[in-house]
Amino acid sequence: MTSQIIPVEPFDLIVFGGTGDLAERKLLPALYQRQRARQLSDPTRIIGASRAQLSNDDYRAFARKAIMEHVKPDEIDDEQLEAFLKRLSYVVVNAVSGDGFDTLKKAVDDSKSIRAFYLAVAPALFGDIAKHLQEVGLVTPKSRIVMEKPIGRDLASARALNDQLAKVFSEQQIFRIDHYLGKETVQNLMALRFANALYEPLWNSAHIDHVQITVAETVGLEDRVTYYDKAGALRDMVQNHMLQLLCLVAMEAPASMEADALRDEKLKVLHALKHINGNETPKLTVRGQYRAGASANGPVTGYIDELGKGESNTETFVALKAEIANWRWAGVPFYLRTGKRLASRVSEIVIEFKPIPHSIFEDSAGNITANQLVIRLQPDEGVKQWIMIKDPGPGGMRLRNVPLDMSFAESFQERNPDAYERLIMDVIRGNQTLFMRRDEVEAAWKWIDPILTSWEDIRQETQGYTAGTWGPSASIALIERDGRTWHES
Ligand code: BG6
Repeated sequence: MTSQIIPVEPFDLIVFGGTGDLAERKLLPALYQRQRARQLSDPTRIIGASRAQLSNDDYRAFARKAIMEHVKPDEIDDEQLEAFLKRLSYVVVNAVSGDGFDTLKKAVDDSKSIRAFYLAVAPALFGDIAKHLQEVGLVTPKSRIVMEKPIGRDLASARALNDQLAKVFSEQQIFRIDHYLGKETVQNLMALRFANALYEPLWNSAHIDHVQITVAETVGLEDRVTYYDKAGALRDMVQNHMLQLLCLVAMEAPASMEADALRDEKLKVLHALKHINGNETPKLTVRGQYRAGASANGPVTGYIDELGKGESNTETFVALKAEIANWRWAGVPFYLRTGKRLASRVSEIVIEFKPIPHSIFEDSAGNITANQLVIRLQPDEGVKQWIMIKDPGPGGMRLRNVPLDMSFAESFQERNPDAYERLIMDVIRGNQTLFMRRDEVEAAWKWIDPILTSWEDIRQETQGYTAGTWGPSASIALIERDGRTWHES
């Protein structure tokens, strides 16, 4: 089965930070893939904008290199690559002084296309860019603006950033990206829950024992020293990606896939999260920081050495126990963990059902394991429903836990598009379903802020873990104290 490609209306996409890391690794390759899929209509144009003094040809050379490096060789179609590069041009702008914005205006002024501004720059520049765009008259009712995280470092700074953009753009024009929402498997979570009658009646505290959400990475700092050391794992991963996953697992069924219907339901979950603060914080949260150890490619240094400065208490790992105080979820813990330099790269959601109330089998049948639904987001995307069956063959009743295994790679031949491909096309289509609304981002910070404050107040230190392991032992203790264990990936 091949997916249906619906071309989008012609657009002008202006990428601020056009020569930056995000443009190079994600945006240009994603846009090229959409060209290859014949989704871009003429006269679509992509305009790189940044401080670097480049010509149009230099920028095309930059884009060609980015695509050759970040797209698989068998996905390079020379003809489509040339056609894509023809769509590119470049303007030198200074986001602070506003120099170059009038040139940008001249470049797109005659166009009737949809206009989208992509802020692939440091958030400190968001407000200035929005202001200059308005000053030169580049913002039209058909314009959209795309923001990348971090959207603030706490509630107050997130509000300030949102206020700055709101001076120039309406909420319907603002697209706040959480790239996890663009992942195929994350959207599949909604299909699993709401396109099947099977799970919904069981999806509550009467039948579910607990939920685990793990986003484990093997990479370390990856040249992001300055940003990461000020952020840490709670801000970098939990405030956005992990909480979005939690919302999709826990929300009520929205009435439709319409953007606000979905976002209203996610918001209710965020509001229902029990706050973690004061003396409870060390019991419910674990902060870790990697020490020297090993990765698949050999020995790796510890965080502090990688950082290149004497000391830091920034967490590269966090585990926590969250609770949602509402009728559906009261008493069901949601265990979250994420970290860098862990034993393997895996993102998954585990729904563990309650044990059966009574066993009719003899002890010799063996243990009866509670059912688990494991939704694997990456890599090896798929869904496994673990169930108990009778071990085949004679010799009495022996029970065994086996997975009903659905691997997406085996079942579907198509390539799995990168999240950015889907999300950029949604920006052009004006579909905000997979983007975060202002109140959602702020509600997430409202829950994160007390944890950050408590960590500071009670001086909760990071605990060391060896690179290449599953984090500090306190993370294992966090879940084992409740008589449960982390799912082994
Ligand atoms: C980003 C974080 O948002 O997500 C990174 O800033 C992290 O620190 C990345 O590595 C993980 O994304 P993915 O798609 O590789 O799981």
